[in-house]
Amino acid sequence: MSTLAIEGMQWGDEGKGKITDYFASKAEIVVRSQGGNNAGHSIEHSGVRYALRLLPSGILNENVINVLADGMVINPFCLLEEMENMKNRGVKFHLILSKRAVLLLPYHIELDKARENALGDKKIGTTKNGIGPCYEDKAARLSIRVGDLLEPSYLRERLETVLPIKNLQLKAFGGQEMDLEELYASLLKVREQVKDYIVDTTRFLLDAIKEDKKVLFEGAQGAMLCLTYGTFPYVTSSSPLVTAIPNNTGLPLNSVQTVLGIMKAYTTRVGEGPFPSEIDGDIAKKIRDEGHEYGTVTKRPRRVGWLDIPQLKYVCEISGIHHVALMLLDVLRVVDEISICTEYRLDGKKIDYMPSTVSELEKVKPVFITLPSWKEDISKVRKFEDLPLNCQNYIQKIEELLGVDIDIISVSPDKEATIIRKELF
Ligand code: IMP
Repeated sequence: MSTLAIEGMQWGDEGKGKITDYFASKAEIVVRSQGGNNAGHSIEHSGVRYALRLLPSGILNENVINVLADGMVINPFCLLEEMENMKNRGVKFHLILSKRAVLLLPYHIELDKARENALGDKKIGTTKNGIGPCYEDKAARLSIRVGDLLEPSYLRERLETVLPIKNLQLKAFGGQEMDLEELYASLLKVREQVKDYIVDTTRFLLDAIKEDKKVLFEGAQGAMLCLTYGTFPYVTSSSPLVTAIPNNTGLPLNSVQTVLGIMKAYTTRVGEGPFPSEIDGDIAKKIRDEGHEYGTVTKRPRRVGWLDIPQLKYVCEISGIHHVALMLLDVLRVVDEISICTEYRLDGKKIDYMPSTVSELEKVKPVFITLPSWKEDISKVRKFEDLPLNCQNYIQKIEELLGVDIDIISVSPDKEATIIRKELF
């Protein structure tokens, strides 16, 4: 198969980075298609750790062309910092930026922070990177696009149109208004450093698909953070679903040949919003500490819960997931018993699907089954059959409940600590 798309199946932070790196080393092209620097993961290459926010995971591989595609929101200052960091460490990379992607600018960040403050205890719990206000501008047709950097006079014209409106909003929130000349000058500086990377990535990708190039579509965030299909309003402002890839890259529907869902062996979420299988207390703390469940971007402690089958089944259905990578399985040896939420009770009635509104989701009571855990260190295991029996049983139970194949199992953060049951790419 020459194209593979990766999707986080929960609320993000499923461990996509490790699997993406694995597949990026086999790819010719790695594409990020939505979101911005709200994402974050670190990858290890030749013993050095790199923190990536915007750059795709193929960036450390000289033979890979990395694409920031049309659906992205790109903070140019953050991008330059990441590119500088690569250059300073002697990394030679290939990167192209979509002319159609939009710029995430300082006023988006200010507006994100101001609105979160104004929402008080109803806040979304965003990463405060300006993602929501930036996508709002796209829908409002007020964005400055990456391609505008190539035409300074048009860039200035756009700023003259857009900035007065942004300043009105900033003023309404009691924030500092922004100066057009300063912003324009800073964007001209950015332009000098990025102009050679800006192309029509749609054209590039259409040709790549025709030439049967190996393309990896990496995922960012998780399905439950999808603006439409997630736990609205506690979601991000784009769609992390693989079904959004065509619309965010300009590629036709059939360009995604294989879909790989990534899920943790338990569930986490950062930020506010419903989380039916959430747990707290001692068990949650043990899992959080063992799994290092603290935000990569914000360092916030992540909320922890058991696997939620109605939630995962819903994501398999809407995204057409048949292949799954199960991550952080090793973490669960710190508990004696593992629970799985198999269905919910809503107003006293059993339901096996995920309701579509937050008010229903806040009311549902999870129904759990419990399985025994294992105490063995599984980090050196490379074959499914060599896993402790209770561990095998847990995996088979998930496969049975979800009706998917768990083709990849991660048994520790190390690159090699992976059980590959089927080659997908
Ligand atoms: P925003 O994307 O910064 O607007 O944040 C909206 C919600 O999505 C918040 O709950 C964030 O914590 C969450 N979020 C955004 N990006 C990520 C991610 O990469 N991993 C996990 N959660 C994320």
